Amino acid sequence: MDELENKIQQIAQLIIDSENVIALTGAGMSTESGIADFRSPGTGLWEKVNPDEFASIHSYVSDTGKNLKFMLEMGMSIFKSKPNKGHKSLTKLQKLGKLRGVLTQNIDGLHKRAKTENVIELHGTAHEAICMRCHTVYPITKLIDQVLKSDRSPSCEACQGLLKPNAIFFGEPLHSDTLIEAEKMLSCCDLLLVLGSSLLVYPVAFYPREALSNGAKLVIINIQETDMDDHAEVVLHERIGDVMPKIVDIVIEELR
Ligand SMILES: NC(=O)c1ccc[n+]([C@@H]2O[C@H](COP(=O)([O-])OP(=O)(O)OC[C@H]3O[C@@H](n4cnc5c(N)ncnc54)[C@H](O)[C@@H]3O)[C@@H](O)[C@H]2O)c1
Ligand SMILES: [Zn+2]
Repeated sequence: MDELENKIQQIAQLIIDSENVIALTGAGMSTESGIADFRSPGTGLWEKVNPDEFASIHSYVSDTGKNLKFMLEMGMSIFKSKPNKGHKSLTKLQKLGKLRGVLTQNIDGLHKRAKTENVIELHGTAHEAICMRCHTVYPITKLIDQVLKSDRSPSCEACQGLLKPNAIFFGEPLHSDTLIEAEKMLSCCDLLLVLGSSLLVYPVAFYPREALSNGAKLVIINIQETDMDDHAEVVLHERIGDVMPKIVDIVIEELR
């Protein structure tokens, strides 16, 4: 058995031996669905745009038109995308009773579209718009239709407040009820699978340490190194879609 096969086998065994497996997923989960992440060298969005100028709540309010142009581009790649082998592998694991739920930084909705259940979207969703004044939530089409038809900022039907995508922008707090749900899920997990996250964005950056201090084990699958690699039971610097189906096949075989 070569080193990669050995590691794949080890991860499958950790999943089999654990009672409460949670996946923590980042933008790297969806690059194989054609959605660029932020930090991959060469393809990450931050090589093209400045995060302070786009995707921060301050810049959205002060230059809504310019920000919406960027967001529509990112949105279109999300709306065209489909769940990939990685998302589908997690759904399979869950059907086998070997995945309790998913904590995700992603706003693309692909875990839910892959029919994984118990998914907590920490950073909200690109599929909805929200009024910044009265907090009414609309399908994202409400915002897109207005942007495509006129130069004016998209506004709420109920109160004329400014509409924004219902995703958390830089400079905005996460919803406290979502954070509480995430903490609950994390506190009972005995194995945390970190998939495609640079672990640089809080609060997710802190979750692996929290899981470890609760006695959970850690597995990291990410093309690039992360600061938590040294703390993980197994680390794979591979594409999620190349290894997750193999891991799930072994779990299926062993549980048979
Ligand atoms: N799909 C989305 O919804 C999407 C896309 C871009 C950014 N974001 C937002 O950006 C923020 C960025 O944080 P982040 O840590 O999630 O992303 P990130 O861009 O900081 O890190 C992604 C990591 O995934 C790795 N990666 C890329 N493709 C991979 C693959 N196929 N297999 C394994 N690893 C792969 C990269 O090496 C990188 O370390 C998050 O807050 C998220 O909300 C979301
Ligand atoms: Zn409103």
